[in-house]
Amino acid sequence: MIVRPGSLTLAVAFVAAVSSCAALAGETYAFPAGFLWGTATAAHQVEGNNSNSDWWDWEQVPGHIKHNDHSGLADDHYHLFAADLALARDLGNNAYRFSVEWARLEPEEGRFDEREAAHYRAVLEACKANGLTPIVTLFHFTLPRWLAAKGGWLSPSTPALFARYAAFAAARFGDLADLWCTLNEPVVYLGAGYLKGVFPPGILDLRQALIVMENLARGHALAAKAIKEHDRKSLAKNGPPAVVTIAHHMRVFDPARSWHPIDIVATRVVDYIFNKAFLDAITRGRLYFNIPGFPRVDVVIPGGKHSLDILGINYYSRDLIKFNPRSPLLSDQLHPRDAQLTDLGWEIYPEGLYRLLVGTWKDYGLPILVTENGIADGSDSKRSEFLRQHLQAMARAMKDGVPVLGYLHWSLLDNFEWAEGFWPRFGLYSVDYATQQRRPTKAAEVYRQIIGAGKIDLGKSEDLGPEDEAE
Ligand code: GAL
Repeated sequence: MIVRPGSLTLAVAFVAAVSSCAALAGETYAFPAGFLWGTATAAHQVEGNNSNSDWWDWEQVPGHIKHNDHSGLADDHYHLFAADLALARDLGNNAYRFSVEWARLEPEEGRFDEREAAHYRAVLEACKANGLTPIVTLFHFTLPRWLAAKGGWLSPSTPALFARYAAFAAARFGDLADLWCTLNEPVVYLGAGYLKGVFPPGILDLRQALIVMENLARGHALAAKAIKEHDRKSLAKNGPPAVVTIAHHMRVFDPARSWHPIDIVATRVVDYIFNKAFLDAITRGRLYFNIPGFPRVDVVIPGGKHSLDILGINYYSRDLIKFNPRSPLLSDQLHPRDAQLTDLGWEIYPEGLYRLLVGTWKDYGLPILVTENGIADGSDSKRSEFLRQHLQAMARAMKDGVPVLGYLHWSLLDNFEWAEGFWPRFGLYSVDYATQQRRPTKAAEVYRQIIGAGKIDLGKSEDLGPEDEAE
């Protein structure tokens, strides 16, 4: 890798080196210089009026979104981004992850919209003005309407179309952005859209889901290549090297009955399907499923091998897996009886972040960026501790040698939570949707203080372990 002062590559090399030998002052961990502190958002969830997208159409059908909410104006971040980025700066942040919207940038097949490109350049300039390293996501669950009509990620032509869009984005934004996230949560996307039917296109079909997985992997590999190709040309002009990742949702899975062989096997299967299969495809170049009773998949992903420079992990929770013969692929996903839960009923399990960071570093050997971590907490009573405990877990992993480059909290603002609509509150700033007023939560101050101190006490490692009491 070429190391240039000021580039993310430098941060990668530096943080990797420092974190593996970071000094511990008693029970305190000091974060390395260059560590990225930020928040994450996604275009459709915050911008408002994303009316040329498949999600916009999906929301119009009664029953698709809780309380029949529509994303509507959302946070009006499309117009308020400058003030919002100043709020991010007020947290002491030095990074911001956001998505550019494919439906805006390519509103008709093959016609790219330079006015929308200028808009996102303005967002990138505002990031720079506020001292925020931008991390640009290309696909965060939404498709242009025209592409959805052609079959979206089910269509064999979509990977190449995605690469063309990525090349356009690299050409327009590459001088302002070093860090590219091609896909957000591919496995969540295909699970929600093609296995559970709660995201567009609302299908329940395993074979189609597997095709979508393959096409997403192909699309990622082609997009990564397009970004790198553009970058090589700009390197000749002295630009900083691009770093490519995805934001991969990873969960911790433990057997619901720790003694039960069938739960143990089911847990391994779910862990492979959810956490590993896609990552293997885009790091080792092969998408492989050989699960008895299910379609066999064994395909090479061209350009998939080594297509990640770093690995972005979105971490929220863990599930206890209890084998269910009626749904053997997914099994039942439970939580310990005494678990603390978020408003969405997800177990609060900070130790899971430690376990994932250590395990994923061991398995894949890539520097890691925590691209999302957060909590739905409308009463603002749990967010501060959630944040602190997850940062402690991350710091413990860093102390144990995992090169973590940064942490991005989901989210800067309350926003449109997909099929759940607006009720879940994930923001470090809460939003009054009637007035578009932003107000800091208590956790905003906690985050600001930890970032300002540059260190954290390590707390204690509590592996609550899989209890045999699960519900
Ligand atoms: C992730 C997703 C985000 C956000 C978050 C909170 O799965 O990338 O868009 O919705 O979960 O649920």
